[in-house]
Amino acid sequence: MADHLTVGRVAELAGVSVRTLHHYDQIGLLTPSTRTIGGRRAYSAADVERLREVLAYRRLGFGLREIAELVDDPATDAVARLCRLRGLLMDQRDRAAAMVTAIDRELEARAMGIRTTPEEQLRVFGARLYDNIGSAYPATRRTEPRIAARIWDALGDARTVLNVGAGTGSYEPPDRDVTAVEPSAVMRAQRPAGAAPCVAAAAQSLPFADQSFDAAMAVSTVHHWPDPVAGLREMRRVARRVVVFTYDADDTGWRQRFWLTRDYLPEFADLLVGWPSLADLTRAVGGRAEPVLVPWDCADGFFEAYWRRPEAYLDERVRRAVSVWTRVGPRAERRAVSTLREDLATGRWAERNRDLMALDAAELGLRLIVA
Ligand SMILES: C[S@@+](CC[C@H](N)C(=O)[O-])C[C@H]1O[C@@H](n2cnc3c(N)ncnc32)[C@H](O)[C@@H]1O
Repeated sequence: MADHLTVGRVAELAGVSVRTLHHYDQIGLLTPSTRTIGGRRAYSAADVERLREVLAYRRLGFGLREIAELVDDPATDAVARLCRLRGLLMDQRDRAAAMVTAIDRELEARAMGIRTTPEEQLRVFGARLYDNIGSAYPATRRTEPRIAARIWDALGDARTVLNVGAGTGSYEPPDRDVTAVEPSAVMRAQRPAGAAPCVAAAAQSLPFADQSFDAAMAVSTVHHWPDPVAGLREMRRVARRVVVFTYDADDTGWRQRFWLTRDYLPEFADLLVGWPSLADLTRAVGGRAEPVLVPWDCADGFFEAYWRRPEAYLDERVRRAVSVWTRVGPRAERRAVSTLREDLATGRWAERNRDLMALDAAELGLRLIVA
């Protein structure tokens, strides 16, 4: 009993009322495993673990009945449940970041005397990150031919290809039978006329039978999935071959080498906390990872693309097409951009990064996983 917590102590630690805990007990959501001699509720470590899950789902806005189903799900173990919870919280964080961006935009518009339409005001609430930032995507994001060649080569002789997190269709091989999957309506709407058919779905639950494609590919998208390992397993399930373009989040070497994250945007590291390692991702599909260098004149404007063209990061259009800038928040973005602008003007950036000018391509942690 000594290792059990009283109802009062649990309520105090968790920041909920004793009445709430009594209610959870009455409805069978969280019944403490034992009682003191005086008949008071006593919570074991396992009870506390369950309560933590219940409260996290409450914070995410789930109803008590839904929560009961989630925490009692016999198909998942504790680690899988924590991963699911983490994914949902990340999704919520992304939605909040998207909302901050939309509000900032509205404030700027109001300052210039422009009123947003009722549709624009409401769209913010239902939006996923890419429903909010997606319209800025096509300005600078397109197929980089040298990276495409690597991806298409890795697809081998696959005739039917599933492109998961397909966005506007970059990197879709023109000579194969492609089916795209994309959850954001804004991204789907921007696919060019004649692009491959696109299904509204998400990686973690692909609406296809086992082994229904020769290959499945995913480009610059895995870091947006609420449960990357589950999504990769889904790709493995529906396709005989899997090709994933992503980055090695646990190699701190490239983050230190890349001047943007090292000197201007250290907040980038926070986005990677808890992110599965490259080994986890590779294991999920049973494949191997190969480095992909970023050419100095990379045509696809992803986060690392302008490593030898620093002025590009001063361009709002470049930043709006890369989710990192929304995710770190407006304060970090403003500070990073103004410091970079200053360092470019004073020659400090050039002084620090002189050696980069001699390179044609850089190793910045990007990887191609092939299975
Ligand atoms: C950086 S874009 C990459 C798009 C495209 N693959 C490309 O290379 O241009 C990331 C895409 O992942 C999509 N995405 C976000 N969450 C997803 C999920 N759970 N399953 C599949 N795709 C997702 C976004 O909507 C967005 O279109």
